Amino acid sequence: MPKFCLGIEATADDFSVGILDFNGNVLANVISAFIPKMGGIHPREAARHHGKVVGQVISTAFQEAHVKPEKLALISFSQGPGLGPCLRTGATAARALATYLDIPLVGVNHCVAHIEIGKLATGAKDPVTLYVSGGNTIVSAFEARYYRVFGETLDIAVGNCLDIFAREAGLHQRAGMPLGAIVEKLAEEGNELVDLPYCVKGMDLSFSGLLTAAIRLFEVRQYRLEDLCFSMQEIAFSMLTEVTERALAHTEKREVLLTGGVGANKRLQAMLRTIADEHDSRFCVVPKQYALDNGAMIAWTGILAYEHGKIIPVEKSFVRLKWRLDEVEAPWVGG
Ligand code: ATP
Ligand code: FE2
Repeated sequence: MPKFCLGIEATADDFSVGILDFNGNVLANVISAFIPKMGGIHPREAARHHGKVVGQVISTAFQEAHVKPEKLALISFSQGPGLGPCLRTGATAARALATYLDIPLVGVNHCVAHIEIGKLATGAKDPVTLYVSGGNTIVSAFEARYYRVFGETLDIAVGNCLDIFAREAGLHQRAGMPLGAIVEKLAEEGNELVDLPYCVKGMDLSFSGLLTAAIRLFEVRQYRLEDLCFSMQEIAFSMLTEVTERALAHTEKREVLLTGGVGANKRLQAMLRTIADEHDSRFCVVPKQYALDNGAMIAWTGILAYEHGKIIPVEKSFVRLKWRLDEVEAPWVGG
């Protein structure tokens, strides 16, 4: 009898449900994005959106997967890190399903899930991972039972840096075109490297100085917007590449895995491919549907954790807003 897991992802602006079998076949991966009318994400507004679409997204996932609820072996959900109201909406749905169906519940760390689905989707076995999104900037690799953090942002995430700059410059998100992708497009028309702060401290990164400087230069209209976008990308992505390369040299891993929304950027991909080549490592870019926040990654990591007995009682399934990647023991890795 095949076994299935339904996973719920609701850490931020997307509400998503994935259904996988225990062999790692993705049978459904339904995503409903909350797009704010203006500005950034307001956690309660996003959670309201999730609450509205939860029933529809779950039933669409069942239809797509051709799986009946009673065939599920477990429910998993993103337990953290993320925005409180969003996480709680997802967790409530997961608890209700697990209780109703009387099956185990597994809480999944969102960042671990990005790495696990990335490995599943690309065939990477033991990579150095660069996870770059609107809320996260992390360089990680597995070492002795845990995914270790080799470098991370000390302030804002690189995606957030690009998004805030784009909004300040009057750019607006369009359907199918995130702000980072609009910056990328403008950057293709840029060629003058504007002096912006490059900030790597040890193995960690800081983007807030770069953001402030770029906004200030935009306001004085001394440079073309295209050149500012080009320069932001060159500086921010060089910082990311430097830290990833050092993690690769230190760990002597043979794979580099790029994931998260910013991972779609062709310039970032080119920079990372260069260092992967120099270190005789395979460069793996996670396909978009599994690089953005998605329910499939929560379902798959739920299966891995469940197979190692990591289920949680409903009454202890509280959400963990600041749950770090390196706090999660991952007994399923490496054997
Ligand atoms: P989390 O931080 O929880 O993973 P998120 O919803 O912010 O969540 P994603 O959906 O993975 O993350 O990524 C969104 C980010 O990716 C946004 O900052 C967006 O601007 C950026 N992005 C998308 N496409 C590109 C691109 N081509 N170049 C640069 N950045 C991009
Ligand atoms: Fe994410």
